[in-house]
Amino acid sequence: MSDTTEEGETMTFKESPEAVAQVLQHALIGDDLPDSFTLLGREWSLHRGVFPSTLSAATEVMASIVPYPLGGSFLEVGCGTGVIAVTAALNGCATVTALDINEKAVANTVANAERHGVSDRVRVLHSDMYTELDPAERFDTIFWNVPWTYVEDGFALSTDLHSAVFDPGYQGQARYLAGAHAHLTDGGRLLLGTADLGDRERLDALAEETGLRVELLRRVRRIEEVRVMEYHMLELHRK
Ligand SMILES: C[S@@+](CC[C@H](N)C(=O)[O-])C[C@H]1O[C@@H](n2cnc3c(N)ncnc32)[C@H](O)[C@@H]1O
Repeated sequence: MSDTTEEGETMTFKESPEAVAQVLQHALIGDDLPDSFTLLGREWSLHRGVFPSTLSAATEVMASIVPYPLGGSFLEVGCGTGVIAVTAALNGCATVTALDINEKAVANTVANAERHGVSDRVRVLHSDMYTELDPAERFDTIFWNVPWTYVEDGFALSTDLHSAVFDPGYQGQARYLAGAHAHLTDGGRLLLGTADLGDRERLDALAEETGLRVELLRRVRRIEEVRVMEYHMLELHRK
């Protein structure tokens, strides 16, 4: 779908924000929602108000293809239910830090770390991006399965779930890129999980402004209920 602003600038919404908001509304208050789900051969707790990791195949795809730093440290920004953070710990990361701006996601990730016996290796923080990290903390890999839906700056994030899906002005992704290098070890990797519904041109422009080069590491196509979705695992390199 495409729209033209008063200034004549063409905005491209590949997904209608209204349609996404409707799905969110159901995911937030639907009384038929289960309190757990199965993914990657494991059972996971789902707390109400947290991005359900089965809403699309994104979580499953990303959890399966993240190049986890074996024996190293992993930071997941925006952990949601905690599937990726817990999978990182189960797949050999020595330490995992998971953070989310949504307090309910923090509790959900704690519950899933306990459920899968990795609480000793998974630390969970309520944090807006990197703000609650010690400024000196460094990680071998930093990853975010981003809210890829572009909406204009000022778009109201009216529920916890809105920040799981919408990124007004791509400001969240801008902060993710700009702040990451202060928290990466020498040779550490900065990864970003997105999809073909995201605005890749905007993302590339943000990376350019931050002095980063974007590499497509993996492309995974999945047939979903309404269309073929294509997920992209990107790596950001210092130029
Ligand atoms: C697409 S969801 C991914 C959730 C989870 N990682 C998964 O794959 O199921 C994006 C997550 O980023 C979180 N988020 C959005 N803005 C954030 C911010 N500024 N700081 C921390 N987390 C944020 C949302 O609350 C949401 O949990």
